[in-house]
Amino acid sequence: MQLTYLGHSAVSLELTQQQLLIAPFISANPATEANPDDFSPSHIIITHAHGDHYGDTESIATRCGATLISTFEIVNYAAKNGVNGHGMNIGGGFDFDFGRVTFTPAWHSSAFPDGTYGGMPMGVVIESGGKTLYHAGDTALFSDMKLIGSKWSIDVALLPIGDNFTMGPDDALAAVSLLKPKVVIPVHYNTFDLIAQDAQAFKANVEANTSASCVVLEPGQTHNL
Ligand code: NI
Ligand code: MN
Repeated sequence: MQLTYLGHSAVSLELTQQQLLIAPFISANPATEANPDDFSPSHIIITHAHGDHYGDTESIATRCGATLISTFEIVNYAAKNGVNGHGMNIGGGFDFDFGRVTFTPAWHSSAFPDGTYGGMPMGVVIESGGKTLYHAGDTALFSDMKLIGSKWSIDVALLPIGDNFTMGPDDALAAVSLLKPKVVIPVHYNTFDLIAQDAQAFKANVEANTSASCVVLEPGQTHNL
């Protein structure tokens, strides 16, 4: 599995036979030079309805026929705009052709800009090709991350560190201790001034205080699991 960071909370995953996008907030993201037209995923995963995650979902999915995997509510919303979807909910898993997707809790909110309720916000665990990736979505620190860390042996955890809307670096460090991933990649920071953070300081703290290694990616950079 090859992971490419697209800035903010967005990642593209190259799986054995297909591409998967998580939170493709690309065209309106001031911190990335990626172009949504360059992606043709088989599936798009959305953890909650906020615009900085839903992003270019509709334009990408309607162009290439990607299936949206998200809450029942978000899938219904997208279906009205022509997007094929597979609705799920927190605690549920499903075996797709590329691997298994399980949604986990997240402490946040989830409504579209027009006020439509998006269901509960979620994190997601993706198991594919013998690797396990956890994307926390937007969330506070919560002690049940320990359950997630004991149920799965996480190869890579993508954790928000931006503060203000999500965990900041100190709580994300505590999350690493609960989740026990092999590698942690910080996300959801430096996109806007409000969530400016020092990712190298976070990396130093993670590596001094936990057994995880921390990989700081600039938008466009890749990491091989
Ligand atoms: Ni959000
Ligand atoms: Mn967000």
